[in-house]
Amino acid sequence: MKLKNGIILFIFGLVIQNCMSISTEHSATSPNNSLSVEVKMLESKLVYSIYKNEKLILDESSLGFEIKGMENVFSEYKLVNAKSLSFDETWEQVWGENKSIRNNYNELQLNLVSLEDKTYGLDLFFRIFNDGVGFRYVVNGNEGDSLFVVSENTEFNFVDQYKTWWIPNNYDSYELTYENTDLKDVQAVNTPIAMKSKNDNHHIAIHEANLTNYSGMTLEKSEKGLISVLVPWPDGIKVKATYPMITPWRTLQITDNAAGLMESNMILNLNEPNKLEDTSWITTGKYVGIWWGMHVNKNTWEQGPIHGATTENAKKYIDFAAKHDIIGLLIEGWNLGWEGWLNERNLDYITPYDDMDYAEVSRYGKSKGVNVIGHHETAANVLNYENQLEDAFDYLHELGIPAVKTGYVGPINPKGQHHHGQYMVNHYRKVVEIGAEHKVMIVAHEPIKPTGIRRTYPNMMSREGGKGMEYNAWSQGNSPEHSVIIPFTRLLGGPMDYTPGIFDIRFDYKPNFRVYTTLAKQLSMYVNLYAPWQMAADLVENYEGHPAFDFIDIVKTNFDESRILEAEIGDYLVTARKSGEEWFVGATTDELGRNFDINLDFLDNDKKYVAYIFCDAMNTDWKYSPTEIEIRKYIVTNKDIIKAVLSPSGGMAIQLAEYKAGNYPDIAEFNSTDAERIETFKKVTVFTDYESAIID
Ligand code: NOJ
Ligand code: CA
Repeated sequence: MKLKNGIILFIFGLVIQNCMSISTEHSATSPNNSLSVEVKMLESKLVYSIYKNEKLILDESSLGFEIKGMENVFSEYKLVNAKSLSFDETWEQVWGENKSIRNNYNELQLNLVSLEDKTYGLDLFFRIFNDGVGFRYVVNGNEGDSLFVVSENTEFNFVDQYKTWWIPNNYDSYELTYENTDLKDVQAVNTPIAMKSKNDNHHIAIHEANLTNYSGMTLEKSEKGLISVLVPWPDGIKVKATYPMITPWRTLQITDNAAGLMESNMILNLNEPNKLEDTSWITTGKYVGIWWGMHVNKNTWEQGPIHGATTENAKKYIDFAAKHDIIGLLIEGWNLGWEGWLNERNLDYITPYDDMDYAEVSRYGKSKGVNVIGHHETAANVLNYENQLEDAFDYLHELGIPAVKTGYVGPINPKGQHHHGQYMVNHYRKVVEIGAEHKVMIVAHEPIKPTGIRRTYPNMMSREGGKGMEYNAWSQGNSPEHSVIIPFTRLLGGPMDYTPGIFDIRFDYKPNFRVYTTLAKQLSMYVNLYAPWQMAADLVENYEGHPAFDFIDIVKTNFDESRILEAEIGDYLVTARKSGEEWFVGATTDELGRNFDINLDFLDNDKKYVAYIFCDAMNTDWKYSPTEIEIRKYIVTNKDIIKAVLSPSGGMAIQLAEYKAGNYPDIAEFNSTDAERIETFKKVTVFTDYESAIID
């Protein structure tokens, strides 16, 4: 079947298996039978359990709500109907890490009515995939009547002991350092939280999918495990809704290993299909920015002697971008209101500063194939932004600006609202919808966490929602392991605008700050930290003439296929992603140097490729010689194995493009043993004292 927006959908099977069974115990298994869910009534209360390979991993955990004034109504239920079905389709993404996504699950649907008053009740939908379980509630009552959620009481009572990676349950920010503790020591966290079983190494990540008109879910320690705690409104109510209230999906990705978490598409699959009829205006690409200069104090956002967003500077950036495969220029500080922006909080989204000819810069950029990316910093004054929203997006549309970065630094106005509460969830969605109406893509900073709505609104490109590169410019920075934790936590929800690509690792502008990686590791992030709009974050003068910039120039931002070759949370990640006939490989390590054998067996059998390799040099280390990099080209085939030798907090990035005789006259045949280098590598000192390493 071909849909009007060009998406091809294959439905292989939709089978109603059985209806009207009203025993008090029901179960369903994943299509490959490895996971199963059991739901049962225990004295009129509802509980669910999960088994992996027939072993109980999540013990009877309760489900349900406290609704204001309805405590008795929503406490005991009678199961009146149950049915199960199977679903299998393959759908195509407008953009992403993989073009085709298989959505295959068995579903269990349960209908319950309140014992107290049968006008009210719950419907429960469990979807069991091969890589996890998602479930959602529908809370029923008189259609259109209001309800106020005091608490959602969804429990997660795990049986095994787990190592976990998480950030605390802050209601306004995800820009926090990841902690690594035993599950029993987890007090209160934001999702996604990643967990590794101490018994058999299976991995679990808890999160949510399709967070719509509801509050974000955090998790807190409960008597037997973890329990959902929703982010409140200022009056303490968690969700304000009308019957029937449909919740987001509560998700448990459950896989054999860490790579499986990254490979899982369950969260996307639990979202609605694309709603936008025309997606031809949605693109992916790379962008530079008048941005890092402000973070390292070279420039200011506000107008003055070192104002970054001048017409002249913007044209300089456009000229640089036009010479490369860079199709966007983010300009921050272009608009009135940046003086005391965190206090005044009155930014203007339609009036440029008078040293920035915004229309001329947009026109100049377009003439060179580079689009301006708009910037709407709200300083969290949402009322001010909403007042200007229509005009602000009309203005972007008028100038032909195809994408905007939004920002919400500071406490929300209206006072008492939280970034992650229902009010803001609805605001962020409004911006995505208004963006779609005006054909504008959104990159949101200080956002609500991603829950897969990019499937429904493919103009929702990427978000921050975690500690990004900026932290290196003005704080203790991101530790060497940060970039090998976020792919298994934050990025499970969706792409991150991490903004990689700092080449001047020990920037002069602020001597007490630096980046805690090697240069080659910065390049590896373009492959390992997927984003559809990927920034080349450094000042363009640090890129001019630098041979390593070639990788940023050639790397792609939209892939047909992605493979996770090596993965361990908090330790390392090696991925390979295919775009057209090319592959890109990224290898990233934490504070320890590591060797990997990168088996090129994913390449086509009958072809020769050029491996364009960017890797840590023999003496590279993140602390004293982070910018030393080796750049080599070899002819390879799918029989070859490339030895990746990563320095502490180092990395490697590779492009594999088809070899065409004559194009590369001086290229060497690949020599896969590099013994001397490996020997030397072993002598490299390992610095684990990142905290005390602020330049010496
Ligand atoms: C915080 C954002 O993360 C950063 O990218 C931006 O430059 C500042 N806010 C100002 O909007
Ligand atoms: Ca931020």
